[in-house]
Amino acid sequence: MSHSTKRRLLLAIESSCDETAAAIVADDRSVLSSVVASQYELHEEFGGVVPEIASRAHVRLILPVIERACREANCNPRDISAVAVTTEPGLVGSLLVGLTAAKTIAMSLQVPLVAVNHIDAHIYACGMGQPEDIYPCVGFVVSGGHTNLYDCQSATECRMIGSTTDDAAGEAFDKVARILDLPYPGGPSIQKAAAAGDASAYSMPRPLLHSGKLDFSFSGLKTAVLYAARGTPGPEQRTTTPPECVADLAAAFQEAAVDVLVAKSRLAIRKTGYRRLCVGGGVAANSQFRTKLEEMASGEGIALRIAPMELCTDNAAMAAIAWEYLDQGRTADLNVDVLPGLRRLPQKRR
Ligand code: KG4
Ligand code: ZN
Repeated sequence: MSHSTKRRLLLAIESSCDETAAAIVADDRSVLSSVVASQYELHEEFGGVVPEIASRAHVRLILPVIERACREANCNPRDISAVAVTTEPGLVGSLLVGLTAAKTIAMSLQVPLVAVNHIDAHIYACGMGQPEDIYPCVGFVVSGGHTNLYDCQSATECRMIGSTTDDAAGEAFDKVARILDLPYPGGPSIQKAAAAGDASAYSMPRPLLHSGKLDFSFSGLKTAVLYAARGTPGPEQRTTTPPECVADLAAAFQEAAVDVLVAKSRLAIRKTGYRRLCVGGGVAANSQFRTKLEEMASGEGIALRIAPMELCTDNAAMAAIAWEYLDQGRTADLNVDVLPGLRRLPQKRR
C-alpha cells in the first residue's frame, strides 16, 4: 500500500466508569480492534460501582488493554495518527486514569489528542457499521448513569432536551436487581428472570408517563418494587424477597420501565419532528426494550437505529466520533482536564 492511500489510525481509550477499554479505529471508521475489560466481579458484592475500586482497577488494566488493542489490530504504535479519550462525563478518578494514559501516549508519539464526550459517543455508536448517516436525529442514551434525550443536528451538535430527575434507567435495573437478590449488573439478570415471569401479576407505576414533558423518574418505580417484594417499612418488612415472586416482579418492573422509555422517545420524535431515533447505552441491550422500540417506530413511520449489541455497553470503539472532531480541527491541549459528574437538564419549578 502506498503511503498516500494508507489509512490513518486512531487509538481510542475509554475509562469513564467500570470498563477499561481501548480500540483502534481507522479513518474510514472501521474498527480494527476493540478490547473491553469489565470489572463486574470487583463490584458485584457491593451491587454497584465503587469509584475507588474502579480507579484502582483502571490503573492496573489500562496499559495491558491498550497493548492488546494494538496487537489485535496488528498496529505498530508508530502508525497511530491521533489519540482519543473520554474526558466527560463519568467518575473523576476513572476518567483521570484514561486521560493520563492518553496524554502520555499522544505526547510521546507527537500526535494530536482528542477529548471525547461519552454520551455523544453512545449516540454515534448507532451509526457505526452501516452506510447511511444517522444525523439529524433524536438521540437517546439509556445507561447506568443517564437517561437523556438529545436533539442531534450532527455528531458534534447534540443538545439535551430531556433527562431523568432522579435515578437513571440502568441504575433502576441495578437497584431492583438488588431488591430481588439477583446478581450485578442488574440489567441482564432482570431480563433473564423476567423471561419466566408474568408482568401482569403486579401493577407497577409508570412515573411521569403523562407529564407531556421529556423528563423521567425511576426512583418511585424502584420503591414500588421494594414494597411489593418485601412489604412496606415497619417491623413486618422482610429482609429478603420470596424467591417465588422474583420472576413476576422482574417482569412487571421491566415492562413499566420499558413502557416509559418508549413513550418518551415517541414524544421526543413528535416534539422535534425528526424522522430518526438513535438509541444507545447499556439498557439498549435489553431485548424487550428493543422490540417495543421497533413496534413504536413502525407505528410512527420513523427510522430506528439501535446501537449494535457490542457497542451498547461501554467500549472504546464508539470514540470513533473523534474522527468527526478531527475533521473539524477540534483537538485538545495536553493540559485538558476531565469534566466528571452526571449530565442532567436543570429542572424548572413545576
Ligand atoms: O452504558 P453502560 O455500559 O455504562 C454507563 O455508561 O452507565 O450501561 C450500564 C447499564 C447498567 O445499569 C446495566 O444494568 C444496564 O446498562 N444494562 C441493561 C442490560 N444490559 C446492561 N439493562 C437492561 N437490560 C439489559 N439487557
Ligand atoms: Zn456509557
